[in-house]
Formats: sequence, structure tokens, C-alpha cells
Amino acid sequence: MELMLAVFSLLFLFATQASPPLDQVLKYIDDHQDDYVQHLKEWVAIQSESGSPAKRDDVIQMIQIVGERIKSLGGSVELADLGNEELPNGRIIPLPPVVLGELGKDPNKITVCIYGHVDVQPARIEDGWATDPYVLTEKDGNLYGRGASDDKGPVLAWLHAIEAFQALKQELPVNLKFIFEAMEESGSKGLNELLSEKNETFFSSVDYIVISDSGWLSEKPVLTYGTRGLCYFFVEVKCAKQDLHSGLYGGTVHEAMTDLIGLLDSLVNSSGHILIPGINVDVAPLTEEERLLYKAIEFNPEDFKNTIGTTELLHESKEDVLLHRWRFPSLSIHGIEGAFSGPGAKTVIPAKVTGKFSIRLVPDMDPEKLNNQVTTYLNRVFAERRSPNKMQVTLKSGSRAWIARFTDKQYVAGRRATNKVFGVDAEMIREGGTIPIARTLQHTTQKSVMLLPIGGAGDAIHSQNEKISRGNYINGTKLFAAYIAEISQL
Ligand SMILES: *[C@@H]1O[C@H](CO)[C@@H](O)[C@H](O)[C@H]1NC(C)=O
Ligand SMILES: *[C@@H]1O[C@H](CO)[C@@H](O)[C@H](O)[C@H]1NC(C)=O
Ligand SMILES: *[C@@H]1O[C@H](CO)[C@@H](O)[C@H](O)[C@H]1NC(C)=O
Repeated sequence: MELMLAVFSLLFLFATQASPPLDQVLKYIDDHQDDYVQHLKEWVAIQSESGSPAKRDDVIQMIQIVGERIKSLGGSVELADLGNEELPNGRIIPLPPVVLGELGKDPNKITVCIYGHVDVQPARIEDGWATDPYVLTEKDGNLYGRGASDDKGPVLAWLHAIEAFQALKQELPVNLKFIFEAMEESGSKGLNELLSEKNETFFSSVDYIVISDSGWLSEKPVLTYGTRGLCYFFVEVKCAKQDLHSGLYGGTVHEAMTDLIGLLDSLVNSSGHILIPGINVDVAPLTEEERLLYKAIEFNPEDFKNTIGTTELLHESKEDVLLHRWRFPSLSIHGIEGAFSGPGAKTVIPAKVTGKFSIRLVPDMDPEKLNNQVTTYLNRVFAERRSPNKMQVTLKSGSRAWIARFTDKQYVAGRRATNKVFGVDAEMIREGGTIPIARTLQHTTQKSVMLLPIGGAGDAIHSQNEKISRGNYINGTKLFAAYIAEISQL
């Protein structure tokens, strides 16, 4: 009897001490972090620069490796062919295929679709990297290498999270689908068409779409529910059939550059206020509820200012800086093509100059309407100058802002997963930049989209010395595992 009791209590002890399944997965991830770093090293070594035609074979090799990885997890993969790309010199090269993967089709489980990309921005050690950009190098807890944060690290983190469930013989609690591409850094050519084409098939069973291709705002984990759109304008002024000498012609002609500077100066005032009439009519009014979201965010305008190396920002309070970064439109002047910009004092009067500026769009601004407002306004400003020159405004590209339905269940799962792994509440943020895929996926499929980034605030993506911290990479892997567990329970 006593023995039986002893056995019984031992069993009881065992049962209560065995950790819950998710905790086992998280521990497994911790224990295998060196393997995960090694895998990232192998991926970073592949120079998958989508913008460098000479590297196209590497890009294709990279996406094929991703396909094989999904197959090794037991998934099925379609390598969707996007055809060819014609380069500016007329040469035709193949576009890398898109990986459409699927793992599990249990009708009783929900289906989560993960988006990521495995192409990278170009990188050369001569650009000022401290280490070879294609040799992942760990220093002071950071993993340096092109693509470490954008976006090979996050893609691998998802695959490792899935692997961890499988290694522990735990059934995955959700069905998974994957869209992994390798042209993201070069405008995702052909992707939109593919997504539309697959709407009724690949996407029909998808419940939630998660994108991990952005970063945190501070040291705190985030859920990102909006991005701004972008309209990029060219304004061209032409005054002569060729460049002129200011000694011979200065004082006699209406100079193109003078007109252009006047036009550019009419766009925004020195407080950052956009002067184009009507620009704000479609900006969705800010609700009190939203303002409260901004109050809760950890963000220090002083640090932000110091990181940039500027003495004063356009706005003072934390809320105003963030609102103007994410929630209101902004206008930036980028450059003047055709202007003299070399060293020295050349006395040229350029014959034709093209000013380049862009406007970041927020909900519910419309690119076409904005184009009309900008064109009408610049034509009026130009007419007031009474210049005989030729002026032309062109909208080069236009994309709308994206805003998620952030009350959707997957945001709840994201919050719970963040709490589980990091022990803090996720910050609800937006991005001031543009991640076209977020809007495209939501708009095309009408499914819930969430950005669940694991990159750090200072990862220097697209820049020299890109990195991801080991902490973000490994905890990010755990976050994805926890998200999978949490979303399956909602
Ligand atoms: C810019 O325009 C806004 C709105 O009209 C105005 O409040 C602000 O004072 C202007 N800034 C300057 C420096 O003129
Ligand atoms: C895609 O399919 C969804 C239903 O799953 C539908 O609501 C949506 O309108 C479709 N999108 C397009 C562009 O047809
Ligand atoms: C992960 O996050 C926890 C909690 O914030 C932290 O203590 C730990 O150092 C992080 N890094 C790793 C590699 O787990």
C-alpha cells in the first residue's frame, strides 16, 4: 500500500513537473541556438542580390534552397515561375521563382500563411563594412551580415520554430502556408499578378497572414498594424536645347533651375507643413482612442534626434513626432537631376533639370487624386512665375497606405506570444515607410494581415554593417513558436 502510494505520488510529481508543450519548444529553441546561427551563416553566404543581374544565379539558388527546406519539413512546394526580366540594356534574364509552400491541411485547424523574402540589397566590404558582408560574424551579441535582419534571419526563424515542434514530436497546431520570394528588394516584379491568380486556390483556405520583414521601434517587441504609402513625383523644367554659359547668357534667359527651385520651394514650408491645397481632406481623422495608443509607446525624441545628429525636430512631443512619422503625410525633396553637383565652381546654366520629390500617403489618401492635386498646384505656381519655359509633372509610382484591422484575433495571439516570450506587452506601432506586400496581400485576399517583426531598431538594414542580435534572432524564433501555439487556441 505504501509502495503504491509512493509510486502514485512519484507519478503525480512527474506529471506536474513535466513542462507544458510550448515551454518544451521554447527550451528546445534555446538549446539549439548555435545550430540556428550556423544555418543563418550558410544563408548569408549566398549573395542573393536581386538588384545585381550578375548575381541572378545566386538568387535562384537561394530560393531553391528555401523550397528544399520546406520539403524537408514535410511540406509541399510549388516554385511559381514569374517569367523573365528585361534589363535596361535589353538583356533578358530569368526572374527567380516564388516559393508557395504548404504544410498540413487539417480542416479542423486554422491556416496561417507566412510571407518573407530571401533576396538582399547589394553589399561590398569597400562600402565601409567592418567585416565581410557575406560572412556572418558574431560580435558583442550581434550577428553581422547582409540579410541577417532583412530578411533571411526572420525567414529562418519561422522554419526553425516549425522544426522545433517536429523535433519534439509535437503535432503542429495550425496548418501553414508560405510565400517566400526573392525579388523583394527589386520591386517584387510579377508578384502582385501571381497573388491575384492564386486568390481562389492557394489563399482560399488561409485565415491569417503574417509578415516578418520590418523592425522594432526601441528595445521593446512590437506588432505593426500600418504602413504609409508613397507617391514619387518628377517635375521637369526645360529652358534651352543645351547647357549655357552664365557669362554669355546669364541675364538674358529664364533659367530652368531658378524656376525649378521656385516650384520645389512652394511644396512645403519650413515647419514641414505641406502647402498643396486639399492634401489633408482625405486623411482619416485621428480618434482619441488612437492618440492613446501613441501615448503608451516607448520612444524618446531626444535619442531619435541624437541618432540622426540634428539639433531640433519639426515636432517636440513624443506623440507628435510619431504621428508625423506614421500617421500624417509628409513631403520630402530628394534631388535635382541635371543640376551641376560636382566639386568646384562651374558656371553652367543647365538646360533641363528634373526635381524629384515624394509624398508619404496615409489612410485614406488616393494616389490618383493626389497626383491631380499636385499637378494642378504646380501648374498654378508655375503660371504665376510667368516663365516661358516648359514644365511637366509626372507621377512615377504611387502606392496607398496600409492599415490592418488590429482588433483581429491574430493581434491577440501576437500580444500573448510576446508576453510569453519577453514578459512585456507588445507595442502597437506603424511604419513610416512602405511595405507594399502588406497592403497587396490584405487588399487582394481580404484576409487579416499582421506584421510581426523580430529585427531590432538599429539593425542597419540596407546599410553597412547590417546585423541582427543573437537575442532577437533566438527570441524571435521563440516568438514565432509561441504565436503558432497561441493562434491555434483562439
Ligand atoms: C507653415 O504653414 C502652417 C500652416 O499654414 C503654419 O501654421 C506655419 O506657421 C507655417 N510655418 C512657417 C515657418 O511659415
Ligand atoms: C479573393 O478571395 C476572397 C475570398 O477568399 C474574396 O473576398 C476577395 O474579394 C477575392 N479577391 C479578389 C481580388 O477577387
Ligand atoms: C531573450 O529575451 C529574454 C527576456 O527579455 C532575455 O533575458 C534574453 O537575454 C534574450 N535572449 C536570448 C538569446 O534568449
